[in-house]
Amino acid sequence: MVKEIGAIILAAGDGERMKSKKSKVCCEVLFKPMINWVIDICHNVGIKDENICVIVSDKENGVIPLLPSNVKTVVQKERKGTGHAVKMAGDFLKSAISQEISQIAVLCGDAPLINFNDMLTSLKLQQQEKTKMTILSASLHEGGDYGRIIRKNGGVFEIKEKKSCNSEELKINEVNSGAYWFETEFLLNSLENIIPNSVTGEYYLTDLVAMAVQDKNGCSGYICGDKNAILGANNRKQLNELNQIARKMVFEKLFEKGVSIPLKDGIIVSPDSVIGENTEILPNTIIKGNCKIGADNVIGPNSYIENSEIGDNNIIEQTKITDSTVANGCKIGPFTQLRPNSHIGDNVKIGNFVEVKNSTVGGKTSLAHLTYIGDSDFGEHINVGCGVVTVNYDGKAKYRTTVEDNAFIGCNSNLIAPVTVKKGAYVAAASTVTDDVDEDALAIGRVRLTVKANGALKYRKK
Ligand code: UD1
Ligand code: CA
Repeated sequence: MVKEIGAIILAAGDGERMKSKKSKVCCEVLFKPMINWVIDICHNVGIKDENICVIVSDKENGVIPLLPSNVKTVVQKERKGTGHAVKMAGDFLKSAISQEISQIAVLCGDAPLINFNDMLTSLKLQQQEKTKMTILSASLHEGGDYGRIIRKNGGVFEIKEKKSCNSEELKINEVNSGAYWFETEFLLNSLENIIPNSVTGEYYLTDLVAMAVQDKNGCSGYICGDKNAILGANNRKQLNELNQIARKMVFEKLFEKGVSIPLKDGIIVSPDSVIGENTEILPNTIIKGNCKIGADNVIGPNSYIENSEIGDNNIIEQTKITDSTVANGCKIGPFTQLRPNSHIGDNVKIGNFVEVKNSTVGGKTSLAHLTYIGDSDFGEHINVGCGVVTVNYDGKAKYRTTVEDNAFIGCNSNLIAPVTVKKGAYVAAASTVTDDVDEDALAIGRVRLTVKANGALKYRKK
């Protein structure tokens, strides 16, 4: 039944009350900018990027770089209210009509938790009742700063902003979320008729309710099941509250999936991460961005994983992993860092104070302690001793190191890239390897030890 639909997202507000140079819609909830939550809701409801129009301010305030490339933007130079903001999208609405986009959602860029089921159900309601517009509302404990929904005979009759309410109206606790569905033609035609509010001089989008009510089909009101879903953030305190609510929402989903979080302390998981059954997350662990984590892992305490893929059965303790992949059965940490573009095979051991960057490490290889592996390709079943360094940088350019399967790199060796240690070769401890080492060869590059009999005596205090 859902035909082509579109959306207008209001995001021309500044970050004044956030005390930020960026727009408030750039402020993050669970490390994800609020505007991107709203864009994702549009996607989930089935709205394509090219049918989304974001109203932005003329200042370079960080919004545009966050938008998918096909999303349209329109500048609102002066902030004259929500009605004025939507009016800026007049051309977008005209083109929507010509493409038979019959319903348009209007959403606030600073209200990231609007629920996609509520969006879909309210759209269906509007299509069934054939109303001109549908308001998503919620019943709060107190109406706060939100616009009050005035009903007559059960139906929505008017929205009154707090500043215009009398004391009786202020007691109404059904409030406007700021999210709506509009019949596209009604929206375009009625915007012309909004006049500035007598109290504030702003053009209120909410004045469209009175116009819809004039029409025989009128306006529908859809009360959202979860009152938290309508909350917006105008300041840092409200932003913190949204983070707390979103964090809890993500945990609830993870629990249903069989993820174990015995204690929630310091754990933050992004809404776009997927975690498998029986994976345990321990305190002070942050899972950020788009992570895909499999089953039966133990992650944490004190770990940070961003935009990475982790397989099954790994133990990842006190570790930072960014833009990388870890296969299955690995033991990583404590105190390990996998920097971007590191790819770790099955059953690898990476121990304390090991840093891996832009490298592949094959299955069953062990990098147990105090090692730097940068711009390298390590094969399978390699033992890397303590203190091994790939010397990848000469001050101008970076070079790669290759170590093939079954090689053994002794402690404290430096592999001066570009260099290759071939299959089964041994590098003796403390060697500085400047040339390739052949298959099954033994490379020793170190000063021979001299032992002087009684040589210590002249240094010893009497
Ligand atoms: C609005 C609603 C109110 C509702 C509340 C929900 C109106 C008149 N009131 O009030 O009923 O309860 O949202 O949060 O619509 N914006 C622009 N350009 C403007 C003005 C606003 O782009 O000229 C954007 C803001 O960036 C924001 C959104 O529109 O994302 C809402 O504006 P805001 O000023 O926060 O409206 P409220 O006073 O909260
Ligand atoms: Ca607001």
